[in-house]
Amino acid sequence: MAHITTIKLNDNVAIPVFGFGTFLLANDGTCYNAVSEAIKAGIRHIDTAVAYFNEQEVGKAVKDSGIPREEFFITSKLWLQDFGYEAAKKAIETSLRKLNMDYIDLYLIHQPYGEVEEIVGAWKAMEEAKAEGKIRSIGVSNMTVKIWRKFVPHFNTMPSVNQVEWNPYFQQKELMKLMKENNVTVESWGPLGQGNQELLSDPVLVKIAKAHGKDVGQIILRFEVQEGIIVFPKTTKPERMKSNLEIFDFELSEDEMNEIRALDKGHGSHNPDADGVKEMLLGAFDVHAND
Ligand SMILES: NC(=O)c1ccc[n+]([C@@H]2O[C@H](COP(=O)([O-])OP(=O)(O)OC[C@H]3O[C@@H](n4cnc5c(N)ncnc54)[C@H](OP(=O)(O)O)[C@@H]3O)[C@@H](O)[C@H]2O)c1
Repeated sequence: MAHITTIKLNDNVAIPVFGFGTFLLANDGTCYNAVSEAIKAGIRHIDTAVAYFNEQEVGKAVKDSGIPREEFFITSKLWLQDFGYEAAKKAIETSLRKLNMDYIDLYLIHQPYGEVEEIVGAWKAMEEAKAEGKIRSIGVSNMTVKIWRKFVPHFNTMPSVNQVEWNPYFQQKELMKLMKENNVTVESWGPLGQGNQELLSDPVLVKIAKAHGKDVGQIILRFEVQEGIIVFPKTTKPERMKSNLEIFDFELSEDEMNEIRALDKGHGSHNPDADGVKEMLLGAFDVHAND
């Protein structure tokens, strides 16, 4: 089984650099089966969110594995309907209950839209939950340079993580500089470009894959990990859960890294700074529909 390395976040919490994403895995047994397979493949880091509506099955798969809780690294995320101090406090308790866990390893502000006071209130609730041992580390997601500068200077503590869209075609170079200055670890969502076929058949990546006897998915994930990015590709296919993990037995040379760095197109599939994103997200994911 592959040995997955860990790195230390700015609050000294160790995070496995490789995990399993659960976006769009339904809470109808699909998520349970996929997470159970991922655990069998050796993955212990699982990325979920309130707005994926599958925290229950993530928690059940972890529990049913029989593996001690402390061997796992579980991330969940606060949805934007739950900003403000009181609402966030309540939402953290709901996540703990749905996951059926005493603590969450990493909790993120999923989508950073709203009044400054609402987001600062949510952050305060997350800081308190961390101090109480309910969360080990706290961070943000989808923060561009512009959004970061709007909210983070109002926080009392620095986020440990910013989870953003990141792949060889979208390397977020300006944001990476800001995160490095602040000692914040970047996590990639969509590390395989969400299955983008252009990326997965890019001639540079195909050439490097052939040279190492690996597939393109493995080259992309290895590149990201070598850049210091945390990855958690999603797949429903057990064979890909295993193959995506086989990136710890080879290394890309500096020349190969530079060739892949040159593939950056400077934009991704989603622009968090665009007008109307908050409304689009609220229309797509209502986490209180069944309250
Ligand atoms: N914070 C946020 O706003 C945010 C947004 C999006 C995602 N995320 C998180 O990031 C995780 C990963 O992102 P994602 O699921 O959107 O995209 P992704 O992991 O980049 O791509 C998943 C897609 O790639 C395919 N795939 C997986 N392994 C492959 C391989 N080796 N070769 C070719 N295709 C492969 C999968 O298909 P098969 O299932 O058929 O293998 C699936 O369609 C999510 O699951 C979620 O946990 C967070």
